[in-house]
Amino acid sequence: MNMVDISRKRYTTKHYDKSKKIPADQIEALCTILQNSPSSVNTQPWHFVIVGSDAGRDKILPAIPDFNHPRVQDSSHTVVMCVRDNIDEAYMQHLVDQEDKDGRFQTAEDKQRQSEALHFFVNVKSPTPKDQYEWMCKQVYIALGNLLFAAAGMGIDSTAIEGFDSAKIDEILGLKEKGLKSVVVATLGYRAENDSNAKRPKSRLPQDEIFTFL
Ligand SMILES: Cc1cc2nc3c(=O)[nH]c(=O)nc-3n(C[C@H](O)[C@H](O)[C@H](O)COP(=O)(O)O)c2cc1C
Repeated sequence: MNMVDISRKRYTTKHYDKSKKIPADQIEALCTILQNSPSSVNTQPWHFVIVGSDAGRDKILPAIPDFNHPRVQDSSHTVVMCVRDNIDEAYMQHLVDQEDKDGRFQTAEDKQRQSEALHFFVNVKSPTPKDQYEWMCKQVYIALGNLLFAAAGMGIDSTAIEGFDSAKIDEILGLKEKGLKSVVVATLGYRAENDSNAKRPKSRLPQDEIFTFL
């Protein structure tokens, strides 16, 4: 399938076939796609909780409102996408050290320059904790987009879910203690035969309304 066809054919799955599970190697592939998602100044301010067991699903279900239950209960996997508490000095050092380890710098000066750029952008883009939280959330949503599109390309159906109780899921998963906060959820699996949404035509605003070409 080409990219345009994938974009036309992917859709939000409302009902999954509970008997169909995503093979482990494809979950691994989707994890790599999440890991490789781009983020501003490579801040990667995220963590992903992958729920693939019935016990895990039952555990998080109290944080999912009734209307979204089938997307979680019957899907194969649920990804709880989280942001960090903050991007502090220790984390910035950690990021630059990782880039160093991954061979991104020729010299110590290169590393220093990257560290300065990182500090500069973090300060500019997130002068307050609220700004920083919103900035980090944007990066997580880029990862969400990658996940949904890649899954579709692999023949895996998905649902992005904002309809959940973030405070509750944080409590259930002990995210606060881990310095994390849930932002958005995605479920993955295979559509049920009777998934009503599968047959609905896609609806989007026309291109002449959403694009300007200069
Ligand atoms: C960030 C985000 C949150 C969403 N939250 C929910 C949700 O909680 N439950 C649900 O059934 N669909 C949810 N959706 C699905 C949207 O309603 C859907 O993407 C939109 O109507 C376009 O339809 P399509 O994805 O089938 O093309 C969400 C989508 C996005 C991108």
